[in-house]
Amino acid sequence: MTKASKTIKKIAGDEPIAAAIVLGSGLSAIGDLLADKVTIPYSELKGFPGGGVSGHGRDLLIGTMGGKRVAILTGRQHYYEHGNAAAMRPALEAMAEIGAKTLLLTNSAGSLDERFRPGDLMLLSDHINYAGMNPLIGEPTDRRFVNMVDCYAPDLRAKAFGLAERLDIKLGEGIYLWYSGPSFETVAEIQMAIRLGANAVGMSTAPEVILGRFLGMKVWACSSITNMGAGLSTENISHEHTKTMAVQGAEKLKKLIPALVEEL
Ligand code: HPA
Repeated sequence: MTKASKTIKKIAGDEPIAAAIVLGSGLSAIGDLLADKVTIPYSELKGFPGGGVSGHGRDLLIGTMGGKRVAILTGRQHYYEHGNAAAMRPALEAMAEIGAKTLLLTNSAGSLDERFRPGDLMLLSDHINYAGMNPLIGEPTDRRFVNMVDCYAPDLRAKAFGLAERLDIKLGEGIYLWYSGPSFETVAEIQMAIRLGANAVGMSTAPEVILGRFLGMKVWACSSITNMGAGLSTENISHEHTKTMAVQGAEKLKKLIPALVEEL
């Protein structure tokens, strides 16, 4: 048991959580949905991300959603902040230790595919680790050889499609390409990503998926599309634009995520 999970249990109680949810840029409104909320600043939790990126929170929230007890990580540490692909490992280990069997990840992403326009949601069916970094480098045990087939749990994806239909939310799925950032992609890099078979590009998530599978969690991830990839439209790509546009996706995720949690 890590020190962070002991602190969480001391503050929020012993009852296990059903799922851990990680919020991407501009998606913090999802945290407002929690009932009986306990807020713990990351600064009180050993190994949790320090520093930060604007548009991301720095609190762990524990509460009830969709009739289940869940934890929400309101912000993540990205590889581009310090060059550490394993930055989220202590926080995700703590989530596994307090009972999370499921990891629900969200992010903001640029679309490479006309099917996904700004404001749309794209469920991840798979990813390409184009950044080439891996959070398990240095892990000494054979557990490091994680099988990544179906790393985005097929049953959760199927459930999400059923729920999206019921909730009248347009949902498609595609392949997410992890690009390290923090600069956005060049026009040529976006063209390359399209040729590699990706449908969206972003600067996060893939390392957390690897860690989630390593920790034995079922993983689900959804992108809120904030822009078309560089050169695919005339809009100006910026972090400000990402944060503004993420609000539309957040409104949809605010309906979809509690419904999914209810079915876990
Ligand atoms: N590229 C990478 N990451 C992103 C983008 C993008 O176009 N939009 C939001 N996050």
